[in-house]
Amino acid sequence: MRDVASERYVEKRPAVVERVVTLEVNGRTYTLRLDTRVTLLDALRDRLGLVGTKKGCDQGACGACTVHVDGRRVLSCLTLAAQAEGRRITTVEGISGGDEPHPVQRAFMEHDGFQCGFCTPGQIMSAVALMAEGRAGSDEEIREFMSGNLCRCGAYPNIVAAIREAASGGGRDAHL
Ligand code: FES
Ligand code: FES
Repeated sequence: MRDVASERYVEKRPAVVERVVTLEVNGRTYTLRLDTRVTLLDALRDRLGLVGTKKGCDQGACGACTVHVDGRRVLSCLTLAAQAEGRRITTVEGISGGDEPHPVQRAFMEHDGFQCGFCTPGQIMSAVALMAEGRAGSDEEIREFMSGNLCRCGAYPNIVAAIREAASGGGRDAHL
């Protein structure tokens, strides 16, 4: 008869691999020892305290975690922190470059482009990138190229209005 009590279950977990990663975020350099599986999103929020970048779905579906890497928008929940080493990372805390809000931030405030505000940092980061990409030529184009950023409050009309205004005037001095 089989002696189940004497059989031991040995859980096989992958070994944790850590490495030192140097990240340049908003013009500052940070050196961190990280598990190589840590996402850029978790490194920004949990290790650097940059909680402006939001965790919504954590699986690439909502856009709340959008940041810029070398001027291009990326989903930080799908990017490993180690992959961003040596790249220029910008979060919502770093787009204004001073005490004044970025023109896109100002336009969101003027047009009530948010309700609860949870999606707003990601919306703003996408909007700034979209303007730099030359994708803000019409409301249709703005909707299309902002479609990766979901807003559960449904503030879409005001978000489009804010980006339209920023792109047509107030956003002329927008920068990445
Ligand atoms: Fe990254 Fe939703 S948290 S896409
Ligand atoms: Fe609430 Fe967009 S303002 S989710």
